[in-house]
Amino acid sequence: MKKIIIIWSILFCCSVSAQSETRKIIPFDDGWQFYLGDAVNAHETSFNDGLWRTLNVPHDWSIEGENLQDAPGGGNVGYFPMGVGWYRKTFSAPALAKDTKWSIEFDGVYENSDVWINGVHLGRRPFGYSSFSYDLTPHLRPEKNVIAVRVDNSNQPNSRWYSGSGVYRRVRLVGTKLLHVDKWGVFAYTPKVDSENATVAVETTINNSNVSSYTNAIVKQTLRDAGGTQVATAEAPVVIAANSIMNVKQLMTVSNPKLWDIDSPNLYTLETTVLAGRVETDFVTTTIGIRHIEYDIEKGFILNGKQVKMKGVNLHHDTGGVGAAVPERMWERKLQILKDGGCNAVRTAHNIMAPEFYEICDRLGMLVMDEVFDEWERGKRDYSYHRYFNDWHEKDLISMVRRNRNHPSIVMWSIGNEVPDQSSPRGAMLARTLINITKREDPTRLVTAGNDNIASDNNYATDEYLYEFRDEIQGYNYADRWRNRRELIYSIDKAANPTWRFLGTETGGLGGPRCSYLIGNDPNKVEARYGPRIDTEQRWKFTLLYDYVIGDFMWTGIDYYGESRWPSRGATSGMIDNCGFPKDGYYFFKSIWVSEPVLHVFPHWNWEGREGQIFPVYVYSNCDTVELFVNGKSYGQKRFEFPRKGTSGGWNSFPPGKVQTSTANLHLSWDVAYEPGELKAVGRKDGKQYTTQVFTTGKPEAIRLSVDRSAIKAHSSDVAHVRVEIVDSNGRVVPYADNLVKFELTGAKLIGVENGNMMDLSSTKISERKAFNGLCLAIVQAESPGNIIVKAVSEHLKSAEIEITATKP
Ligand code: GAL
Repeated sequence: MKKIIIIWSILFCCSVSAQSETRKIIPFDDGWQFYLGDAVNAHETSFNDGLWRTLNVPHDWSIEGENLQDAPGGGNVGYFPMGVGWYRKTFSAPALAKDTKWSIEFDGVYENSDVWINGVHLGRRPFGYSSFSYDLTPHLRPEKNVIAVRVDNSNQPNSRWYSGSGVYRRVRLVGTKLLHVDKWGVFAYTPKVDSENATVAVETTINNSNVSSYTNAIVKQTLRDAGGTQVATAEAPVVIAANSIMNVKQLMTVSNPKLWDIDSPNLYTLETTVLAGRVETDFVTTTIGIRHIEYDIEKGFILNGKQVKMKGVNLHHDTGGVGAAVPERMWERKLQILKDGGCNAVRTAHNIMAPEFYEICDRLGMLVMDEVFDEWERGKRDYSYHRYFNDWHEKDLISMVRRNRNHPSIVMWSIGNEVPDQSSPRGAMLARTLINITKREDPTRLVTAGNDNIASDNNYATDEYLYEFRDEIQGYNYADRWRNRRELIYSIDKAANPTWRFLGTETGGLGGPRCSYLIGNDPNKVEARYGPRIDTEQRWKFTLLYDYVIGDFMWTGIDYYGESRWPSRGATSGMIDNCGFPKDGYYFFKSIWVSEPVLHVFPHWNWEGREGQIFPVYVYSNCDTVELFVNGKSYGQKRFEFPRKGTSGGWNSFPPGKVQTSTANLHLSWDVAYEPGELKAVGRKDGKQYTTQVFTTGKPEAIRLSVDRSAIKAHSSDVAHVRVEIVDSNGRVVPYADNLVKFELTGAKLIGVENGNMMDLSSTKISERKAFNGLCLAIVQAESPGNIIVKAVSEHLKSAEIEITATKP
């Protein structure tokens, strides 16, 4: 056995991240040849790719291109180029042990990929968000092998948002013995959970590819806690016929389980071992969480016996600076920022995410609505998924559910977003088909879909269609859009259908470009077009008041590329921008989502030439009272309370903590005559005082740098986020600064730059970026361990430098 491993690693010339001696998992990301455009015969082994560009995947070629007003995908994809591209990788085969099967796994290729090995076509996968794999075993040669991938994203438009193009997720080779766990063949869930005992059920699909005889096998499960201590085991002897697949179900009891929840996301590792006789033939590890979920018709979502309101956001799959090829750390940072803002749930709008995304949600304690399609049979764009739906929906849906069903973070599946089929005669049948597939693959979770046409005037969702979700979750997109639903929201449907489960799958958020305050064009008065959104506040009041509402997923958590109008390349609906910098809206949501004190005041206070004019000043806060001062002068104390408390225990006797409210809104506001200086909000909560200030700043003088972590791993999954601030002589961020900042790096490479300004169409792949309203971001990646220095320079500004350490992965 040892000998074989040595041969493998020599022949592969790349690192083998083995889970065991029986299953080999070989990262296959590095050293591809890439050509942007179509190429004749590039699938042939003999094709000469010597002049092609060498790169590592994940790779998104669209983000490297220029935004053009006449880009075929138009504003859907943010005017980025799409097109056709080729990838080729030459490698030596593993030792061709007779009893080993090799496959290649792709986590996602956008879109229409064709894959060949040594000139033999392995298959085509239209959907760009599915994971898929091909068996390489019959085609491998001992010496040189060539994998060729043609990616065709040229039919445009095929998406309503930025898709990216290429092999934009990870690739690996997997080697298994003939008797092995099938792909995605471990399904673990927890049918019974209380604080004393939990039952962990494991269904394992065993694949016996031996051709000639029955095999006496043993399937062993070992569950370990986060410290590695074994907490439960199970062993099942089975007899499995040659060339067959068998499901084995085992139950384990864990005493005193450490439950997974949003505050303590405890995880366990399940080790599945397969033995033929006494010889181990496979070993697979799966991360699981022990938790109990239910959806009560009156109480909404119940996690481990406690009601949890879903405070959710929608997220697209791209991120600022790098497009669709997102290093894991970039998701981790942004999801943590959302979590710090009180967000506890995300919807994967409107597609399957990369596997790492869900792993991070497991670790952070983020609830996930995992969504698969934006279209069924009826399309939204000329070349979108409806063209593939009939042939592919089952395979693509399986690819999501089977791959992801062990993640404790996933608490429901969504089979679609605003599908026009809601109102088609075939809609109900299609919904039923998709729900049935989902439940066959995972009976433990409920299913929803984001429906925008419940109660619409035209093309309304049919009763038959909605009926299919009667035992699942009714998902409402913009429930407060239609007529009296502005105020009554779900209550009309709740009265008519008391046993439905209600969820705001998509709702209005609080976006706009970060720190941009429109005040109109009249030089003599301010016509402010910034500030809170009353419909968002109304809806949140309703959502918080009524237990039966499971929660609310607003559009969106983060700004995203695409869905824009020239000359903008993205949508700014996020509570954070695409650098991860919080906007004012972030603090609104935080103020209603968390209980620790929040106090945020805006706009900025640089309004030269507008002296004496009246500006609305807003505060997002959960303090009991807030007082606003301008240059030390009080504009008075204001307060709101939600929910307001009535009398209890007698006439005019209010519970302690009751305040005299000055507004029924979820924000506070003052009208203030502008004078330069200091805007200060003083909040009081539970007897303690909190202060926040905004100052009129001087002009840009210097660059200030900070980094999210001072040490990173020298690996493609990790990055350092270097935050650039343009500051005045007092070290205050200048809110209008747009200085061009140039980056000089030693010891690492820059993989992207951004500033959150969707109208800034300069490349994110160069080493300079203008600041946008005082800030920009450099994304730094290390290829080898050592010291990294990032220097930022700008004409007329004092430059800055920061040191980061890269450690061994
Ligand atoms: C929704 C849709 C989203 C996005 C959003 C923009 O109706 O589901 O994908 O397009 O509108 O406001």
